[in-house]
Amino acid sequence: MPDKQANGARVLADLHALRQIGAYKTGVHKPTFSEPHLRSLQWLAQRLPEAGLAAEIDGIGNVLGVSVKAGPKLLAGSHLESQNYAGWLDGPLGVVYALEAARVLNPDPTVNGSVEVASWCDEEGHFGHFLGSRSFVGAVSEADIDAARDRNSAATMREALAAAGLAGRPRLHAERGRHIGYLEAHIEQGETLESGDLKIGIVTSIVGIWQYRITFTGEQNHAGTTRMAIRKDAGLALARFCVAIDDTFPKVCGPRTVWTTGRIALDPGAPSIIPGGAEMLFQMRDADIAVIERLEEKLRSMAAEVTAQGPCSVTVERLRTGTPAMMDASFQGAIETASTELAGGKSLRMPSGAGHDAQILATIMPAGMLFVPSIGGISHHWTENTDDADIVTGAKVFVETCRKLLTR
Ligand code: GLV
Ligand code: MN
Ligand code: MN
Repeated sequence: MPDKQANGARVLADLHALRQIGAYKTGVHKPTFSEPHLRSLQWLAQRLPEAGLAAEIDGIGNVLGVSVKAGPKLLAGSHLESQNYAGWLDGPLGVVYALEAARVLNPDPTVNGSVEVASWCDEEGHFGHFLGSRSFVGAVSEADIDAARDRNSAATMREALAAAGLAGRPRLHAERGRHIGYLEAHIEQGETLESGDLKIGIVTSIVGIWQYRITFTGEQNHAGTTRMAIRKDAGLALARFCVAIDDTFPKVCGPRTVWTTGRIALDPGAPSIIPGGAEMLFQMRDADIAVIERLEEKLRSMAAEVTAQGPCSVTVERLRTGTPAMMDASFQGAIETASTELAGGKSLRMPSGAGHDAQILATIMPAGMLFVPSIGGISHHWTENTDDADIVTGAKVFVETCRKLLTR
């Protein structure tokens, strides 16, 4: 008699097996194409036949489990690499839920159709952003891969693919009409569910992420002999610009806009030298493209003003854009019904402030996402965690949602 529901013990055991690969404190360190990341991909490829799926690892590091069962096919998954020294659930939770849904539903003769499982490469943006899922939907060219570099080591993506034994393999692309849609589960990575004693987040929309390199040019000089009045300190100009953004943006942003300066570098970066150059990586996110466009305009006019006033000049270079995505209404409905049945109705419709592969899949098929609570709302840090009971409830809701979507 096959399982009708997710097997909670099996889901937890799988997540812990993945946590052992590349363990760091209570989290993991699995940059894209690192040895632990590749071992995690192999781990998944070995599990997929348990769900009646043939495993393929493609030329960009995506893993896909392909079904030959007749009937509709639902695509489900997430990612297996992590941010550096980060959490164990960001990514693997969605992959293991997808695997569990396939294990429960694919052998069930009463289910017309099957779940196909995906692990998308480089969701966390070590070499680019959403490279695997964007490749799958046809949005990554060979030239994009030629240009991609590891943000930590500066190794090229071509070198990393060759070292991983993936160079020259074909890339898998979505077959139009094959899938009825894409479903992804993820930890919330915020505190909305926990603070409301809720168990399931039903994602309504996913933010667009826009990223910039902002470069300040001054004059490098001696830190002891150059009078304050005549300095052109690029580091100071950068610090002032960060504060100016924080003062100005609240007047023009939307209710859920967020912005972050994630990296600052001073050139040459020595205590006895006035920095002649400074650079910041700046990111902003919103679910409304008009808000992002308004903020970008503001950013550029602020930079022009600083340059006009001197003594340093500023340039703003856009590195990344992303279209916000709406989640499919019928997917939201299926998650809600499954939550009523299996999570005591403790669900909430909510936008996602994090980026996810679902927003890329949503460009070519209906897509949905569900969240489980994050303890303390912590993520992108090794202390990231979710209560075991919440992981199990999420798995049950996820599998039931897949069943409903397949049997509609
Ligand atoms: C994905 O991890 C993000 O940064 O939103
Ligand atoms: Mn992440
Ligand atoms: Mn993630």
